[in-house]
Amino acid sequence: MSQTCVTQPISLMAMKSNAQSVAIRETAVNIAGRHYRTIVLADDGWSVDVIDQIALPFRFGFRRLSTCAQAADAISTMVVRGAPLIGATAAYGVALAMREDAGEGNLQQAIAQLGATRPTAVNLAWALARMASVLYPLAPGDRRAAAYAEAAAICDEDVEACRAIGRHGADFIRSVAARRPDAPVNILTHCNAGWLATVDYGTALAPVYVAHDSGVKLHVWVDETRPRNQGAALTAFELGAHGVPHTVIADNAGGHLMQHGEVDLCIVGADRVSSHGDAANKIGTYLKALAARDCDVPFYVAAPSSTIDWRIADGLRDIPIEERGPRELTHMTGLDDDGTIRTVRVVAPGSAAANPAFDVTPARLVTALITERGAAPASADGLRSLYPEQAEQAA
Ligand code: MRU
Repeated sequence: MSQTCVTQPISLMAMKSNAQSVAIRETAVNIAGRHYRTIVLADDGWSVDVIDQIALPFRFGFRRLSTCAQAADAISTMVVRGAPLIGATAAYGVALAMREDAGEGNLQQAIAQLGATRPTAVNLAWALARMASVLYPLAPGDRRAAAYAEAAAICDEDVEACRAIGRHGADFIRSVAARRPDAPVNILTHCNAGWLATVDYGTALAPVYVAHDSGVKLHVWVDETRPRNQGAALTAFELGAHGVPHTVIADNAGGHLMQHGEVDLCIVGADRVSSHGDAANKIGTYLKALAARDCDVPFYVAAPSSTIDWRIADGLRDIPIEERGPRELTHMTGLDDDGTIRTVRVVAPGSAAANPAFDVTPARLVTALITERGAAPASADGLRSLYPEQAEQAA
């Protein structure tokens, strides 16, 4: 790829030693004491810098995206990932396309190219539809500035939505803490639904940051999240950098911990929520929800309204599940003891591997959905109570 790393990388050792001294600001996530958004306009005034998630957790830096093709590539190769951030990157991808050629043909092509990158996170289609509705009616000469303005608005709104999710979700953590003031609240999460998956703050992790920053004693069980290890590589990285106590566990450990009273609540994110409250999220989420139900552990799904697909009622039947390549399963990448990043094979040569990347947790297993407008039961009525205007439009 022609993208370049545009910030000084921070070494792993530097990250470790800085983690304890990070200044905690109200809900803003900090890396080595500095606050970053995951996607920003570059200093040239038109390119876009994104945190390179492929390099994490061993190297922290930005990549510069200067064309629509680079934005599409960053989404499909997982330089950026997480439903809200995918939507924000796609919006800027359209802006980059309008800078190259603001004609209707190029607009159409950019939307098609970006829309084909990943199928499950509905924020992608949502952001592209929003860009299309703003840009098509305009004269070509007006499209470039309008596209940058709309992409910036999408980013700012995502930040505010996540901030609100943090405030609403923190109440669930506080109510456990109030019952048991002397012990930390144990929260289990799956995949990465933190600051790195959004423009800022996160979805599932936003309540964690709000509660932690306001002095609630808590601890997060971080599912490693095979095969791409978003938990071990991204969630652990950002919680550590912000000074939140956490422990990485094998994906299969959650049920055992719940059976033994070691989990007070689960909070996960979502890539698409149906209008009836079914939630698609990273593969393995459904198994955690089943274990949580069996053990009477509340299971919350935190997502902004841009993740709700009002056109789909039955998530299990209608949410498209991305099938990714077998190499993500057969190989693993990590840091060798000599400091070299290496990729090694972990599956017996010759064995086939299947890699469905998401699963759907039915609404009946979700205790509540936490959105920017508050929490509600995971049901058509629950979502309608929060978003009456959306539900009406979709009917
Ligand atoms: O790495 P991805 O894009 O395949 O993973 C998606 C996610 O980040 C998660 O499924 C996440 O839990 C929901 S998006 C905040």
